[in-house]
Amino acid sequence: MTDAVLVDDLGFSHPDAILPALERVSLSIPTGEAVALLGPSGAGKTTLLTLLDGRLRGWRGRVSVLDAPFDPDRAPPLARRSDTGFIFQEFALVERSTVLRNVLNGRLGRMPPLRALLGRPSGRDLDIAQAALADCGIADLADRRADSVSGGQRQRVAIARCLAQEPQLILADEPVSNLDPTRAAEVLDLLTGAARARSATVIFSSHQPELACRFADRIIGMRYGRIVFDTPTRDLTEDATTELYRDADVLTGAKLQVVR
Ligand SMILES: Nc1ncnc2c1ncn2[C@@H]1O[C@H](COP(=O)(O)OP(=O)(O)O)[C@@H](O)[C@H]1O
Ligand SMILES: [Mg+2]
Repeated sequence: MTDAVLVDDLGFSHPDAILPALERVSLSIPTGEAVALLGPSGAGKTTLLTLLDGRLRGWRGRVSVLDAPFDPDRAPPLARRSDTGFIFQEFALVERSTVLRNVLNGRLGRMPPLRALLGRPSGRDLDIAQAALADCGIADLADRRADSVSGGQRQRVAIARCLAQEPQLILADEPVSNLDPTRAAEVLDLLTGAARARSATVIFSSHQPELACRFADRIIGMRYGRIVFDTPTRDLTEDATTELYRDADVLTGAKLQVVR
């Protein structure tokens, strides 16, 4: 099995930051795995996901995503960008567009440039977008404006947009932190299930250990920019989780109990 992500001795400091956001980070993630990045606020989760999405410059070490080595000084080629989908914590929808239009935006990187420029999807683009809406259980919302649907539905729109892109790697930054516990579990179930059905790799960050453990094959614990554990979910101990959030539970309000 090939690796979707290979990271070796990665380091990164945000401009003007005193401490590095990532330090000596090494990991390999095989194709098809569902991985949760766990850790308190400031641990480096967003920075790592942003870097894997090809949006950070000036890092140190070696990074390879979907068999393409990254250059620390240059954005990855456009042709490769479509293979990675990113789901933002705040959904990042075009509020005044319909749900279907938002999902079709996921196709832009797959369209010939002129078609993308004119915003004219092909029949195939439409079929794929509609299938993604159906997979996310929101086919009936296609013609609604994005700003008229609920929070849980908005995150489903963001996932449908990502699936319409047909990515091999899905990166999701705290995709459920704005949702109530029931909706959060439904959305993570949807996200990891859709990734599995497509043999896509998924990496999501969370500061909710109990949820992460329900839906990830593997848990990577981060603290102060470093990996403090990297373990199959079934081997994760409550001690490791508690230690990860030591002194941080007041800040994040994180629940420490690991539920299986
Ligand atoms: N744009 C930025 N400029 C300077 N420092 C940043 C920036 N973004 C994040 N940081 C710092 O980098 C560290 C890691 O942050 P982040 O990756 O957002 O962690 P997490 O997502 O785990 O909360 C923190 O110390 C944070 O303050
Ligand atoms: Mg973050």
